[in-house]
Amino acid sequence: MKERTLGRGVAVVGAGMSRFGAFAGKTTRDLLAEAYRDMIASVDRGFDPDEIDGVYIGNFSSELFEGQGHTAPIMADWLGLGHRPATRVENACASGGTALRDAVLGIASGIYDVVLVGGIEKMSDLAIERVTDALATAGDELFEIPSGFTFPAFYATMATAYFARYGTGPDALRAVAVKNHDNGALNPKAHFGMRICDVMESKKAAALKKGKPVPQWAGVDDFLNDERANPMIAWPLRLFDCSPVSDGAACVLLVREDLARAYTDTPIHIIGTGQASDGPLHGRADITTVTSARLAARDAFALAKVTPGDISLAEVHDCFTIAEIIATEDIGFFEPGKGCTAALEGVTALHGAKPVNTSGGLKSKGHPVGASGVAQAVEIWKQLRGEAGTRSVGPNARLGLTHNVGGTGQTSVVHIFERR
Ligand code: COA
Repeated sequence: MKERTLGRGVAVVGAGMSRFGAFAGKTTRDLLAEAYRDMIASVDRGFDPDEIDGVYIGNFSSELFEGQGHTAPIMADWLGLGHRPATRVENACASGGTALRDAVLGIASGIYDVVLVGGIEKMSDLAIERVTDALATAGDELFEIPSGFTFPAFYATMATAYFARYGTGPDALRAVAVKNHDNGALNPKAHFGMRICDVMESKKAAALKKGKPVPQWAGVDDFLNDERANPMIAWPLRLFDCSPVSDGAACVLLVREDLARAYTDTPIHIIGTGQASDGPLHGRADITTVTSARLAARDAFALAKVTPGDISLAEVHDCFTIAEIIATEDIGFFEPGKGCTAALEGVTALHGAKPVNTSGGLKSKGHPVGASGVAQAVEIWKQLRGEAGTRSVGPNARLGLTHNVGGTGQTSVVHIFERR
């Protein structure tokens, strides 16, 4: 493997996001403006938007979701950043992570000093059938989609293969869902920011209020086993194993490392970036791992000169609960087949040895697909700066990692962040 270095160091000096959710009355532009304002407020010493040299926007499919193409210049202009280079980056659900990487490369190359990275998606205006069809275009239109595959079905297939190989079952998936909802309940920007036990209690209260029979669930397990409360979407994935259909936006401001202290005393340095690709799921020899994620992680770690054991916390791409388990193996936290044990034993919990998805992850925080990779960076920025409030992992966190996957792993992007 060739040794690589960034031509110039890169630091994050601002990060913000909109609330994630389903917002019938808001447009993508409203959400991006909300995220941009949140980001501006986070830059400790402030900045002049005229300093921004270029804009990268991660967006999967504003054409299918909203009938709007050519989004980057339109969004840049909307933010008052007209005339400078503005580029949309599309790599399905890894669009945001890829936009972040392209911005890093833009600064490292010497072309830009200050770059705005945005991530956007407005999905909830379409009926669920049309959302499912739009998302399916990230699969293989020739061989997979005509045979009935949807995204829940792809990941259900991976879960089934994982269960068969490692002899595990839905309990580990459930542990991921419960943990991520626990974390999301501490995130005021989350789409489904409620613990599952509280969802259960709210359903009981709603039944009581309507004068209907109150369900007698013995506890969260019982609730999650109830086909009416937690319907099967694609076996073995149930409703609470799926990320939701969300609207949202996120922004980060990147600068040349030696300029960072002009913006803040606490920049967060991007010390590793890796990206890899793969063919569609149906052609892979092994679907219990995502090879592109392994390669992207390998390259990010090599560039950063750190190991998985050094990482304090990670935001990984849990579009479905099984995806988080596989991700924690692919990035090297756990051996193949051991990610499920780690989830069951609480190793990845907020105060476990390896906290994963402290934001609530895609599962609870929400998954406006083009925004997700950027929002992962927002969470790591907050955590490493000690600004994550009640979901803080603590003051000793020094290295954070983001893992963003497009489709079933046709694209993976991994970044490593450092507080110095
Ligand atoms: N997790 C937990 N609860 C969810 C949920 C989710 N992902 N999605 C919806 N809900 C809840 C809603 O709040 C609603 O609750 P209520 O009855 O108490 O009001 C209920 O479930 C039904 O909501 P609805 O919006 O009608 O669900 P839906 O059937 O249209 O969609 C899924 C559910 C799972 C099919 C949809 O969220 C989905 O397709 N998710 C996957 C998205 C995806 O593939 N993304 C790309 C990944 S690569």
